[in-house]
Amino acid sequence: MNLSLFDDLPATPQPPELLEPGAIVLRGFALAQAADLLAAVQGITAQAPFRHLITPGGLRMSVAMTNCGKLGWVSDRKGYRYDAIDPESGQPWPPMPALFSRLALEAAQAAGFDGFAPDACLINRYAPGTRLSLHQDRDEGNYAHPIVSVSLGVPAVFLWGGAQRADKARRIGLVHGDVVVWGGPARLRFHGVLPLREAHHALTGAHRINLTFRKAS
Ligand code: SIN
Ligand code: FE2
Repeated sequence: MNLSLFDDLPATPQPPELLEPGAIVLRGFALAQAADLLAAVQGITAQAPFRHLITPGGLRMSVAMTNCGKLGWVSDRKGYRYDAIDPESGQPWPPMPALFSRLALEAAQAAGFDGFAPDACLINRYAPGTRLSLHQDRDEGNYAHPIVSVSLGVPAVFLWGGAQRADKARRIGLVHGDVVVWGGPARLRFHGVLPLREAHHALTGAHRINLTFRKAS
């Protein structure tokens, strides 16, 4: 028997894991909707394809990104910000599917944050070897709202750090269907993703897809 950190389908429901007050891993919370979420991502990327954004420092991000919802997170030489318009198309971002906002609301609620109404969903695509370095989510107008982050496809190791970039980060294995919620006292924690390992998932091939819900305005 091979019981790895990355087993996709828990035989029994797993209890939520508290990372610290305000931060929780909801194991398998999105599993039942995962295939529908990924089908919706395909519809979104037909209108707003994945792209590699440029950081203010001029580097090309290795994670491919797009957005849905009223606001989308973008980066270019001028900085990071939220914008109602996709700079590639000049059009508004595709609307957030009801399935997405409902899942985000329910996950936030399960973590103790009532009434979460995200207006932005950043969609990240990780290819093998792709990583996301430690950062804070702090481009939103109001830190009273939590972040809801949904993992789909190939497993990843999530880094859960502290209030300072240099603080030691814990390594948390995240698999298809897991949801992480952080808010309140944990809202500005540093976090990131280790380089994605080579693996195959029936629904996403070699990729990991992450949906990050925010209330940006
Ligand atoms: C993010 O911090 O934007 C994404 C985190 C993840 O991919 O799990
Ligand atoms: Fe983030």
